[in-house]
Amino acid sequence: MIKESEYKNRRDKLVKKLSNNSIAVIYSATNKTRSNDTEFPYRQDSNFYYLTGFTEDNSILVFIKTKNFSKTILFVQKKDKKLELWNGKRLGISQAKKRFLVDEVYDKSSLKKRIKEYVYEKKYIYCKLINKDKRVKKLLKLSKNIKIKYDLELIIQKMRLIKSSSEIKLIKKAINITKNTHHKIMRETKIGKNENDLLAQIEYEFKSAGAYSDAYTSIVACGNNANTLHYIYNNKPLMENELILIDAGCEYKYYASDITRTIPVNGKFTIAQKKLYSLILDTQIKIINNIKPKVKRSELQKKTEILLTKGMIRLGILKGNYKKLIKRNKHKRYYPHGIGHWMGLDVHDSAPYKDLKGNEIPLAKNMILTIEPGLYIDKNDKKAPREYRGLGIRIEDDILVTKDGCENLSKGIVKTIKEIESLSNN
Ligand code: GLY
Ligand code: MN
Ligand code: MN
Repeated sequence: MIKESEYKNRRDKLVKKLSNNSIAVIYSATNKTRSNDTEFPYRQDSNFYYLTGFTEDNSILVFIKTKNFSKTILFVQKKDKKLELWNGKRLGISQAKKRFLVDEVYDKSSLKKRIKEYVYEKKYIYCKLINKDKRVKKLLKLSKNIKIKYDLELIIQKMRLIKSSSEIKLIKKAINITKNTHHKIMRETKIGKNENDLLAQIEYEFKSAGAYSDAYTSIVACGNNANTLHYIYNNKPLMENELILIDAGCEYKYYASDITRTIPVNGKFTIAQKKLYSLILDTQIKIINNIKPKVKRSELQKKTEILLTKGMIRLGILKGNYKKLIKRNKHKRYYPHGIGHWMGLDVHDSAPYKDLKGNEIPLAKNMILTIEPGLYIDKNDKKAPREYRGLGIRIEDDILVTKDGCENLSKGIVKTIKEIESLSNN
């Protein structure tokens, strides 16, 4: 639970970063059409949510800043009995005034008129890139002779990089629901089921535990399907002796979790599966042990590439000197992605990885990132030893950077061969 005072603190912090004589405008998310007149479930814009905790559409947050004062104004939809009958209750203006610690609340329909007032004699307007949002185009028509600053999102995203204790609590809760879900899947997976059965179970477990949604489209990929990194069909029967890669994490109160486990369909790893799995697990554990403030993500990436490449040479998957192989990007044939990403209100939290000078942002206390090494060997890869063909394995955990190290927030989700085999019912 995040208190209204925390949202206010975030807004105050943002105002401090704006230039004098400016206004800033942040819009809620729009509804997205799925097909004809049906829509995807509405999901509030993460930056807007971060600053307000408000989940209604058609809302706009405006900041005004001059040398001597600053003001925060929220525009919301007014109450409307007819529309609320169809689309659900709205907070309305008077309730919004009571709830939000903003200076003023108005009906959204008065925005146009008021913006004209707000921009009067202002030098700058902060907003999203025009090409990302046609509402901004209209806004800028009302604000002639004013310089546009496009770094508003960047400022908010940078703030989002460091998590507060209440945000960490919500992420832990999301991970806990995801933990119970992965464990249930491990217990109940067996021959005769389909990827879709597991997907349905994942969705059931998330929703029944109070997570409104998944944080991203789940991947349930059996056998060679795991070698499609963004496999979304999730509709093949589970086959004897194959592995299933399950990348699934719920979103709880707007906060993501992002977990991958790879488990055997019939509860026992084969010898080749054990060898490849152990390489990835050992790599993942070593990389997590390297995480602490000041370390850079690119250093973790390099270390991962070295460990996986050396391991692949040991297993006969690559041949040659590890340094030369990495220099020639040969490892990317089997390890084509990054070691991890920021996570928070978005699964791939949109905070930058570099500062404005192009220097990499080092890890710092209370950042959260995923660590997710994997190897993917296609069933038709003639270069790889036969025993490893068709295996796709990834292991992914969510890591909190602490004062002098890190905490693996998903350490409770089993991942050793022994633990997985003993949890399985087969
Ligand atoms: N589930 C998306 C990712 O692992 O980045
Ligand atoms: Mn991830
Ligand atoms: Mn993932």
